[in-house]
Amino acid sequence: MSEAHNEHESPIKTPKQLIAAVVAGFVVPVVIIVLLVNYVGNNALTGAGSSAMTEQAIAERIAPVAKVEIKDANAPRVYQTGEQLYKAVCAACHASGAAGAPKVGTADWAPRIAQGYDGMLKIALAGKGAMPPRGGTSPDDVTDYEIGRAIVYMANASGGKLQEPAAPAQPASGAAAAAPASGAPVAASGADASAAAAAAAAMASLKTAAPAAASAGSNLEAGKKLYNTVCMACHASGVMNAPKFGDKAAWAPRIATGIDTLHNAALKGLNAMPPKGGAANASDDDVKAAVDYMVSAAK
Ligand code: HEC
Ligand code: HEC
Repeated sequence: MSEAHNEHESPIKTPKQLIAAVVAGFVVPVVIIVLLVNYVGNNALTGAGSSAMTEQAIAERIAPVAKVEIKDANAPRVYQTGEQLYKAVCAACHASGAAGAPKVGTADWAPRIAQGYDGMLKIALAGKGAMPPRGGTSPDDVTDYEIGRAIVYMANASGGKLQEPAAPAQPASGAAAAAPASGAPVAASGADASAAAAAAAAMASLKTAAPAAASAGSNLEAGKKLYNTVCMACHASGVMNAPKFGDKAAWAPRIATGIDTLHNAALKGLNAMPPKGGAANASDDDVKAAVDYMVSAAK
């Protein structure tokens, strides 16, 4: 007995211990296998070459790359709120009342609010006295819609109860998306927005195609040509309240301001009307001729 004991030096000395050793020898590897399977299984949920190659899992993995593409020009534009634009730009004058600006939070605004949102927007876009057009911002950076929101913010902080302006339609195609960047106006009113986007897109393509044509002085033929290629984008249908071609009632009050005023407005732009109707390379004479052509059709 003692010989056998010495020979093996086994820790197992009793049948009970033997059973325990056999059970442990069986259970421990099983536990280890279970843990290993779990470990590998967990990995498989995110690993390549596994069932994790689903569209969703792939989308999640490439997400950082996709985020870069969100800044693409075709992506929906993020607009500043009225408060953001006010603080960034308008507050320079309107917080203190500098230069005679109506001070936010005071009765200065009452007569302005009384004239209505459209009237205030028109003045804010065109400028008036010491108020620079668009508060000094460029239409490339700040849309009419954002200016409108800033007006609503200021008016409502001064006793008004104006509604937020409707957001412009997001451009659907690359061509339309490129248009605002080219200085085309963005309509403030929701109803006009899609038509405006269409006109802006048309203008974006016209800008390069616009005729450097017929500098043969101011004549109705050259005017008609420019009208048909550029101005009709807005003036044929009355987009953004452009006075409609041939509409005597719409043109009469404008004609009354004198032909020089109209020539100037067409050359320099007026509110939603871009300078030269957006045809930057058209000659001054042709633009004036187009005005003459439009005026002659509305008399
Ligand atoms: C450089 C100073 C200045 C800045 C910047 C400025 N304004 Fe003004 N604003 C004025 C002045 C001055 C008037 C008063 C004009 C007048 O009635 O002769 C005014 C008037 C207005 C009015 C009232 C128009 C009306 O109906 O009589 C609105 C609306 C307005 N501003 C909007 C804005 C918005 C929106 C911004 C920012 C995007 C802005 N302003 C930035 C100086 C400024
Ligand atoms: C993107 C649209 C658009 C295009 C393109 C366009 N216009 Fe206009 N136009 C307008 C709008 C809007 C008005 C009204 C502006 C206002 O009174 O607020 C207007 C007004 C005018 C007026 C009246 C100005 C006044 O003093 O009352 C003339 C003249 C005019 N446009 C000429 C032209 C000519 C010429 C062209 C082409 C070379 C042209 N427009 C192209 C939108 C456009």
